[in-house]
Amino acid sequence: MNVALQNLKTELEQFGQANDNDQSERPKRMLNITRDTGEFLAVLVLAMQARRVLEIGTSNGYSTLWLAEACGETGGVVTTVEHAEHKVAMAAENFARAGLEGSINLVHDDAGRFLADAHPATYDLLFLDSERSQYVAWWPHLSRVLRPGGLLVVDNALSHADEMNAFSELIKADIEFKTSLVPVGKGELLAVKLLD
Ligand SMILES: C[S@@+](CC[C@H](N)C(=O)[O-])C[C@H]1O[C@@H](n2cnc3c(N)ncnc32)[C@H](O)[C@@H]1O
Repeated sequence: MNVALQNLKTELEQFGQANDNDQSERPKRMLNITRDTGEFLAVLVLAMQARRVLEIGTSNGYSTLWLAEACGETGGVVTTVEHAEHKVAMAAENFARAGLEGSINLVHDDAGRFLADAHPATYDLLFLDSERSQYVAWWPHLSRVLRPGGLLVVDNALSHADEMNAFSELIKADIEFKTSLVPVGKGELLAVKLLD
């Protein structure tokens, strides 16, 4: 067991709660997933034996730590994309403290640009936790970069159901996908891309 990693996750949970209670400006908030969502993501990575994981929306890297820890078991790598420079710096420091830099590819970029440039059928699991107003526009790329049999997991499906509605309906109407709404944390929308 990586004690440094377990301690860091606990520290980041406390920091995220205190910081977000104090900060009214959204860019300065960490907006981390809940611990039970982290546990859920780790189980999904392990159940799928996912090796190629993409996260859109790193923040300070709390959710990435859960994905990367599980990828340590599967031999996988997490690519995580964040556009805010100060959050990339925080995440890089946290990944180094956890000793997980080898399992994480931290990308400082706009997610829309990153997705447009990404190769098709690249990822086993894609965790989407970013700017919800962009999801509909990103959908063609999100769909394209997932491999057949790959899984999309979208955070805030219950906490921000109204904002997610158009995107959720788009996925549900896509005959290439099967979906399920899981009431863990802030609500996780799961969409599996059917095999060809
Ligand atoms: C909800 S937070 C991510 C929280 C993180 N997944 C966690 O649980 O620790 C959303 C993040 O997406 C980033 N973001 C928003 N729009 C983006 C974009 N167009 N490209 C890349 N990152 C973006 C924000 O800066 C923010 O850090």
